[in-house]
Amino acid sequence: MDLTRIIETIVGQMRDADDRGVVASYIPELAKIDPARFGIAIATADGRMVKGGDADTGFSIQSISKVFALTLALGKVGDQLWKRVGREPSGSAFNSIVQLEREAGIPRNPFINAGAIVIADINLAGHRPREAIGEQLRFLHYLTEDDSIAVDNAVARSETETGFRNIALANYMRAFGNIAQPVDLVLGTYFHQCAIEMSCSQLALAGRFLMLGGAHPAGGRVVSERRARRICALMLTCGHYDASGDFAYRIGMPGKSGVGGGILAIVPGVASIAVWSPGLNETGNSHLGTVALERLADATGWSVF
Ligand code: DON
Repeated sequence: MDLTRIIETIVGQMRDADDRGVVASYIPELAKIDPARFGIAIATADGRMVKGGDADTGFSIQSISKVFALTLALGKVGDQLWKRVGREPSGSAFNSIVQLEREAGIPRNPFINAGAIVIADINLAGHRPREAIGEQLRFLHYLTEDDSIAVDNAVARSETETGFRNIALANYMRAFGNIAQPVDLVLGTYFHQCAIEMSCSQLALAGRFLMLGGAHPAGGRVVSERRARRICALMLTCGHYDASGDFAYRIGMPGKSGVGGGILAIVPGVASIAVWSPGLNETGNSHLGTVALERLADATGWSVF
């Protein structure tokens, strides 16, 4: 299989695509991004990196950060975490509040906004937001072996000024006793983690531990094999919100999307893949990123099924 050729073909097709989706505008800073951008990077289990298009351009990872935040929170509190967050797909939009009232302030899963805000509360655990974000950045530096990854402060500020739904979600969960730290500090942590800027190449490197059953490619272990499998299971069932079923059907890989237009997809034992195209579909997931992953899955036969 000639992966370089497959990537070249997909990059060409995505460059010429007319329907590019719609760039997120509810975070004003994200609305400035050029919809013509497309990048893809694949880190393979045998240590290669194959990439194309804007693979080295940084973008806002947004909800993809929820995978790394969950990994850190599980490291801190282990399975106790599941007393405060569920493990079921929500069938609702990423920023929905409706289930929280019926389900006693326990979010359905760690990848919807409400769930990720609880995870931010766990990761904050008495620290200053700056320290909690520093920990996440150090974790990403360790995973990628690249110290240049940082927060885009303009994006963090933009969301802090306009994130009224997240402010509502956090306060609502606090009323149920499921947020322990001051809401503004929890949200400060959450908004800054979402505003981490990475390229497809960096994201594909960061996902390698999930491809390798929890091992770090340079040696040692990031998480246990069981934990890596379980994080992948959550990505498959919940990583694309109310479109998780469609993503599993079309692409067949655990994946996590972000409203910045990125998607991280894992083929266990084979590849860690990052795609980026800023235009979103109606469920808030990258339109061309999803199409590109579908073509990649077709061309390579990669699937967890
Ligand atoms: O909280 C928000 O709305 C954003 N910071 C993240 C949402 C997101 O990325 C949803 N992904 N598709």
